[in-house]
Amino acid sequence: MRTRLALASLPLLAACITDDFQVIAHRGASFEAPEHTIAAYDLALEQGADWIEQDLQMTRDGHLVVVHDDSLDRTARGPVADCRGLVREKSLAQLARCEVGGWFNAEHPGRAQASYVGSRILTLDEVLTRYGSRARYYIETKNPAEAPGMEDSLLVLLRKHGLEGPGSDEGRVIVQSFSPASLQRMRALAPRLALVQLRDERVMPGTLDAWLDSVATYAVGIGPSREILSAAMVEGAHARGLVVHPYTVNAEPTMEFVLSLGVDGMFTDLPALARRVLRR
Ligand code: G3P
Ligand code: CA
Repeated sequence: MRTRLALASLPLLAACITDDFQVIAHRGASFEAPEHTIAAYDLALEQGADWIEQDLQMTRDGHLVVVHDDSLDRTARGPVADCRGLVREKSLAQLARCEVGGWFNAEHPGRAQASYVGSRILTLDEVLTRYGSRARYYIETKNPAEAPGMEDSLLVLLRKHGLEGPGSDEGRVIVQSFSPASLQRMRALAPRLALVQLRDERVMPGTLDAWLDSVATYAVGIGPSREILSAAMVEGAHARGLVVHPYTVNAEPTMEFVLSLGVDGMFTDLPALARRVLRR
């Protein structure tokens, strides 16, 4: 039985992360459908994902949109002035002219679907409105240093949708970030919100304990890349009451490996495969 020290100080954790293994649909079911689209989120929920992930960027005029890359170039098509370059340099009206499904069909002809063409960039507000209480949201503040105020805007939306604050359905949201500063800002703004610290750099020998000690002061879990995940990391996290959600786990043997380490959930582009592996 794991010791979860953080539970005592963060009661919200009990509501949003249970002993059940958590399947987190990375950018939606993004192996089979274009990332961060309605198609990808619908499919993720159909396939039994516990959470759908949103990567946040902020537009020039302060709207939170769900796009992974800083740049539109990989996934958006449309007028060059609107759909090329940095998301943060565009207005929401410009992004509304972009199409974000066609690239997937061109890149992955074996998984292409005509219905993907015409997919639009979603605002976080639209995602929360569409899925409401049918989904849980695992929201990443992406490059927050480039988007001052992102945390405050996120909180406004969470409150609007009854996902944070007294009487709200708090267990339906986790905020994740590579930026400790962004998570600490969220912690200051919303002390009960569940936060997960992402990491993609190797933890240098001798510093794992110090890193986990620090994370445990503001977060309920860690989200390491699968490349840096280790048994010692899982053990050290659990000893501090932190859950462990590695990313991005897509191959069956890797799923089995991370499960063998005792992680609490995983980000995957293939929620259906994760469910099949878990059933075994
Ligand atoms: O948020 C977990 C994982 O998604 C981090 O990597 O680049 O896919 O956002 P990335
Ligand atoms: Ca992410």
